[in-house]
Amino acid sequence: MSGGLEGVVVAETVLSHSDSARGMVWLRGHDLPDLVGNYGFEGTVALLWDGFAGDGLTRAGLTEAFGAARVAAFSGLDVWLDLARGRPLLEGGRLGLACQPDTATPTQLVGAMTVTVAALLRVSKDMPLLAPDPGLSTAADLLRMWHGSPADPALVAALDTYFTVMAESGLNGSTFTARIVASTRASLAAAVLGAWCAFTGPLHGGAPGPTLDMLDAAQAAPDLDAWLEAKLCAGERLMGFGHRVFRGNDPRAEAMRQALAQMGPLAGRLAFASRVEARVAAVIERLKPGRTLPPNVEIMAALLLDAVGFPREAFTAVFAVGRCAGWIAHALEQAQTGRLIRPASKYVGPAI
Ligand code: COA
Repeated sequence: MSGGLEGVVVAETVLSHSDSARGMVWLRGHDLPDLVGNYGFEGTVALLWDGFAGDGLTRAGLTEAFGAARVAAFSGLDVWLDLARGRPLLEGGRLGLACQPDTATPTQLVGAMTVTVAALLRVSKDMPLLAPDPGLSTAADLLRMWHGSPADPALVAALDTYFTVMAESGLNGSTFTARIVASTRASLAAAVLGAWCAFTGPLHGGAPGPTLDMLDAAQAAPDLDAWLEAKLCAGERLMGFGHRVFRGNDPRAEAMRQALAQMGPLAGRLAFASRVEARVAAVIERLKPGRTLPPNVEIMAALLLDAVGFPREAFTAVFAVGRCAGWIAHALEQAQTGRLIRPASKYVGPAI
């Protein structure tokens, strides 16, 4: 057996398919460029959730429902927000989700996640909270609630692309957790909280902040190749590189690269990221001939989240706003099967 369960199929899904060889992700049969160009985050969630959280879901309908859910979540902040003051953002997120009722619906959970992130960010900077604007998209309102004023449309478009391409990614650790919780017939709120907890580790949803730290350190290094070689020889993991599924280019990174390129002044940072990617490939080939270590989605994700103005300690929580749509879709799909997930272990302890 393999400790990481790689290659083990544990569910059938109609939600998405990632194909490493073809370098593409499809959600309900739509590829990423189609989703980014024609559906946006709310339209993508409508596709994902259709048949699970309702029938005939639409982008406009979900934009409205998420807006109403944000307003409701905002009015419930006093239940838990004081407990989160002075704590790291990830602990605050855990508190906010733990306070959602077992009756919470899919839209209420996405609305709660969005408002939770904005509120925790404002509180962490001692800034007064801004009430949601229910007429806006999730991306536009999150930026507005955080920055305190309506966001530049270019930033909104970039964050919407980010949420769209990150909404769902198959059976990663957090999504699998959501399915396990849902399979016990626990509530959707419990499935989302469980998924959040699995998500926060640095090898998963916790990666984008440290990835930006790594890019900064690489930029400050006098000799990039020597710096990379020292890290790899010390057995350190290079954040933003490697992936269980994508062994070549990650199509989500490409979508974000295009969104970033449209933001103009970031060209310098993008060029440096490309240089790091090229040098990692060269150093790996020198140190471990025949091995590859391709960049994953996190470098572009970190640059994008930085560019739209989120501090790096908030990257994981912002990522979760998009990804919770996928957790919910999988939890609902698992619940429909009615089957408890209960694998086996092989005993290797003292003789019995
Ligand atoms: N930096 C350095 N070495 C890496 C590496 C990285 N980012 N990712 C994998 N490796 C090495 C492993 O140490 C392993 O080496 P070994 O065989 O000599 O022990 C080898 O490459 C094969 O690793 P593999 O089993 O294919 O990787 P994985 O499936 O266990 O790990 C990740 C996948 C994502 C957890 C891993 O690549 C990683 O830790 N990346 C950095 C964190 C990150 O960016 N996460 C976000 C993912 S979207």
